[in-house]
This record gives sequence, structure tokens and C-alpha cells, in this order.
Amino acid sequence: KKKVILDVDTGIDDALGIMLAVKSGQFDILGITTVNGNVSLNKATENTCKILEFLQVESQIPVIKGASRPLVRPTFFEHAVHGEDGLGGALRDVAVKTAAIDGFGPDFIIEQVMKHPGEVTLIMTAPLTNLALAIQKCPLLVEQVKEVIFMGGAVKDMGNVTPTAEYNMYVDPEAAKLVCHAGFRSLTLVGLDVTRKALLNIGHIEALGDTPIGRYVRESTSDYTKRYFMRNGVHACALHDPLAVGVALNRALVTTQTYYVDVETRSELCDGQTVCDFQNRLGKEPNVTVCLDVDADAFLDLFVRTLQA
Ligand code: BDR
Ligand code: CA
Repeated sequence: KKKVILDVDTGIDDALGIMLAVKSGQFDILGITTVNGNVSLNKATENTCKILEFLQVESQIPVIKGASRPLVRPTFFEHAVHGEDGLGGALRDVAVKTAAIDGFGPDFIIEQVMKHPGEVTLIMTAPLTNLALAIQKCPLLVEQVKEVIFMGGAVKDMGNVTPTAEYNMYVDPEAAKLVCHAGFRSLTLVGLDVTRKALLNIGHIEALGDTPIGRYVRESTSDYTKRYFMRNGVHACALHDPLAVGVALNRALVTTQTYYVDVETRSELCDGQTVCDFQNRLGKEPNVTVCLDVDADAFLDLFVRTLQA
């Protein structure tokens, strides 16, 4: 089984990504590190523990708290998208019994990667603060990571926070920039270009049936879908974070190309924009494998079948 660490700011779609990862049975999930993002660090951690309890795997997968704020900027929550609680109101009455284990997310990433050199895949579905802190503390880590797959950015598509920036990049562009230039042997950007094609609609939700997971997904995505409709005119919601997990499960779901990518950090209008040098105008070495297209039907089929199981 592929050894993975998930890094999350749980979040409606982070929760669905965790479900896909756990239920796939394809991963040895070494741990889940949490970070400030959609909601506060504490809320993201509580939500992560809640989802693991819901899946009854809380004793098998440790949760480790990471950074409570971006590297240099103030926090920027997304309550309008994910609800006050971060899960769109689902499982709101469930009291969490487990807690994060002692430790700090970036240290956990360092410790696990060094313990399993060349074997660990990092699936990042949140602002990249934890990984940036880990690199700053232990630069040697970079060459020991098998691959990094992150949900973030948009190379041709528009942003979802500002006209040009995707949320995870916008919240901590300094961290994203550091990660992009760190020199990972494989760094895959799963951006809005492809996640906006991975749309979960009512048909998919009905296919999940009247089961605890089916009811959870329906409730948690209800307001999220309304909001997606307001912005995009489609009755569905984008499975941003689950698609990053999907790419880790089956890379053939996406079409990719390697380019030089940088992240804007010093612009009044464009901070957090992922700038992709398609024509190699800057003459720099490619550093990021960019997802350009996705077989959305195959991914949604995988998502639904895995959650049904
Ligand atoms: C990303 O931002 C967050 O709101 C989601 O959880 C996802 O990781 C989408 O832009
Ligand atoms: Ca997320």
C-alpha cells in the first residue's frame, strides 16, 4: 500500500477527500496533519477527528495539529462556503470523543518522511503552511519525499477567492511559493482547471443511497451546492480536495504536463495566483506537474463506488 500523509483544513470537501482516502483501502495513512484554512486550526482538527470517528477508524489514524496561521499573513476563513462549523452543518450534534495526538504537524511530516525515505506521498488539500514549515526546519526532507500532490491554484481558469487566486494559494502564497521552488522530485498541482470539472450532482448523491454516508454527503453538500450554483450556474459542487486524493489513487484520471510555475506574492491584485509558463518564456526548469484535464466521469464513478462500499 502507498504510504500517505493527508494535510487538511477540514472543510466540506476535505472531509470527502478523507472519506475517499480511507474507504479506498489503497493507502497506508500514516497520519493526518491539520492546518488553519477554511476554519480555525482547532475546528479543522475537531472536524477531522469527527470524520475519522464517523468512519470508525479513529484508533488507526493519528491526527496531528499543525500551523494555526499562515507563514506571514493573517488568517482568512471560508465560513461563507463551508458553514460556521466547516462541515456545512452535518454531524453538528455529534460530540467528538478523540483528540489530536501530541506533536506538531510539520514535525510529524519530517519524522515520517525520514523514517520511510523515498516512500511517502503527501496529499495536501489546504494552504501549504505545514509543508513550508517542515521544509524550513528540515531542507533534507525534500529529496526523501516520494511525491507531493496538492489541491491548489488555477493555471488557465479564474480564481475562486479573487479573480486570479484559488483559496489554498491565496491564504498562504508565501508557503505555496516555497513549496513550488523546494525541488521535490514530483510535485503535482491539482487546480481549479480540473477540480471545476469534478462536479458532484444530485444523481451521484442519490446513488450513494439512504445510508449514513449518503445522508452525510447530502446534508454536508446542501448549502455548498447552492453556493456553487450562485457562483457558477451549475446545480452541483466541485470535489476539489477529493480529486487530489483521486490523482493519488489513479494518476491516469488526469492529463498532465510539466511546466515552470511560480506563485505571486507581491501584487495588489494577483497575490496567490499560480503563474504557469506554458511557452517557457522565462527559460526556467519545469518544477510542477500541472493537471490540465480530467476524466471526470471516471473520477466520479470511482468516488461514488468507493463511498458506497
Ligand atoms: C480549496 O479551498 C478550500 O475551500 C477547499 O477545501 C479546497 O481545498 C478549493 O479552492
Ligand atoms: Ca481544503
